[in-house]
Amino acid sequence: MKNCWKAEFASRFRRHEDELKWLYCELYHSDEKAYGRFADMLYRLWEERPEKLKAMDRDREDSPGWYRERSLVGMQMYVQAFAGNLQGVRKKLDYVAECGVNYLHLMPLLESPKGRSDGGYAVSDFRRVQPELGTMEDLFALADACHEKGIAVCLDFVMNHTSEDHEWARRARSGEKEYQDRYFFYDGWTIPAAFEQTVPQVFPATAPGNFTWCEEAKKVVMTTFYPYQWDLNYANPAVFNDMTDCMLNLCNHGVDVIRLDAVPYIWKALGTSCRNLKQVHTLVRMLRMACEIVCPGTLLLGEVVMEPSKVAPYFGTEDKPECHLLYNVTTMATLWHTAATRDVRLLRHQLQQVFALPRNRAFLNYLRCHDDIGWGLDFDFLRSLGQTEVPHKRYLNDYLTGKWPGSPARGELYNDDPRLGDARLCGATASLCGIESARESGGKAAMADAIRLDEMLHAFIFTLSGVPVLYSGDEIAQENDNAYRSDPLKKEDSRYLHRGNMDWKKAALRKKKTTPEGKIFSAIRRLEQARAAHLAFDADADVWLPDTGSDQVLCIGRYCGGEQVLALFNFGDTEQTAWLRDEKIYTDLMDGSRGDAGKVVLPPHGFRWLLHDFSGEE
Ligand code: GLC
Repeated sequence: MKNCWKAEFASRFRRHEDELKWLYCELYHSDEKAYGRFADMLYRLWEERPEKLKAMDRDREDSPGWYRERSLVGMQMYVQAFAGNLQGVRKKLDYVAECGVNYLHLMPLLESPKGRSDGGYAVSDFRRVQPELGTMEDLFALADACHEKGIAVCLDFVMNHTSEDHEWARRARSGEKEYQDRYFFYDGWTIPAAFEQTVPQVFPATAPGNFTWCEEAKKVVMTTFYPYQWDLNYANPAVFNDMTDCMLNLCNHGVDVIRLDAVPYIWKALGTSCRNLKQVHTLVRMLRMACEIVCPGTLLLGEVVMEPSKVAPYFGTEDKPECHLLYNVTTMATLWHTAATRDVRLLRHQLQQVFALPRNRAFLNYLRCHDDIGWGLDFDFLRSLGQTEVPHKRYLNDYLTGKWPGSPARGELYNDDPRLGDARLCGATASLCGIESARESGGKAAMADAIRLDEMLHAFIFTLSGVPVLYSGDEIAQENDNAYRSDPLKKEDSRYLHRGNMDWKKAALRKKKTTPEGKIFSAIRRLEQARAAHLAFDADADVWLPDTGSDQVLCIGRYCGGEQVLALFNFGDTEQTAWLRDEKIYTDLMDGSRGDAGKVVLPPHGFRWLLHDFSGEE
């Protein structure tokens, strides 16, 4: 604590000082000098923070639950794919707003070497935007324009590694020990080989192994992801200090939500899986405090794509929170399992776990993102239903790639590891739902069914508490993009199948209600509006899972402030009846029809949102 610090900063710092110093000194062996530099850095960044953003911080401190509002709708997009560059995105903000979106995740846009970028996830300069996308000033201007429209901006902070072209990596390569100490360098293969005994592989087919030989340094370097992504060593306080500085600099450019990329991987220890180690939680907790001190309006979104039990701990505890937001990744994968099996039992079981968490835990709910879908399902539960892991994954992949007889899906495998039978899956939502194959075959009934499935899955993510996030293009049923196959820089990575350029011709069809584009677009708009209009969708609502009497139909109940919603989803491909034995009168929020909920009939892949308002009753 320094006397010269201004009162606002000082009071925020004081609130966290004890815990911050304790954690920092414990992790960094009482390196008080490094801690002093960390604290000074926080003050400098607070001083640098533009007044407009400080005013926003104060507003958000007054309403700390702002990100749990049910009116929040997110969209994620690659700047280049959506509008060429940052200025282009600014010009298209009216479209973003027309989609009802008020949370915009811009995919990695910082400097990254061509052809060795992993979709921007290999950053060579955390303080420069990729030149073809614009400048830091453009980013600031875009964030400002978003804020004017009430849109929050999310940006990735790729903290586990840097590109091999980053200045630190270049200096390490040329032999500077100080910079080698920022990574994991080894003279020979003995220690790397020992790590390989316990560390799984992220890209077993496209980038096998966790280490790479660096010819210039004549040493081995740790590269968990691609060989050109060098893992940072957070046991070195200089790495933590400088990376926190880079993160806060992004916040000072107007970024409201920091996506902590690959966060479970940031601490490594021999003899472990190098995932989710307890030091990771210490680091995230310290980042949370750094934000609360410098820019308390900023949120941390953890990218924790892990098995179910490993995810929720990243929220931290009530007293010591870590991330504000996490991806509802298990629910997302379970949803596709349910679409492929037409059996809702695992989904019910999964939702029971989610609903048991405290209500202030906020998830991002999504159908797919820029990455593959990994089958991180609750296999213990599936075993109790008589299904075993490897054959079941094979079935899901066969079904969703369309290999299974009668399946209309058009996905593609990702990182097929034949040893483990562990392939993951790629594909745009519309193509996985069968819209692509129905368009090609011209089958009207097939198209109607595929559209119903696509709408139902969207309705599902709008039913849950948390922030529903669309992938740009899914709102107009954009299909797979096969062009990546002929691009030498992309063809090895099938995730590009679902990262295609925004098709603005298709977007123009959103206004024609008879087209798939128009149907999906207007269905999503109706969902957004009904969700925003009704208290039952509030994050504080009671949520439960009424029995439907059918393993093909899932029902979610929500109650808040005198309103009750029953959301019903038929995952079956035939008409189904849900026996809810509820004689109250409900209004269907999609078509306005009224009736009781004793017996609800749903078309194949149909859904219903039924509302009962208790306020008019005696
Ligand atoms: C995250 C990103 C993914 C990337 C990886 C390495 O998982 O979502 O696209 O390949 O991190 O940075």
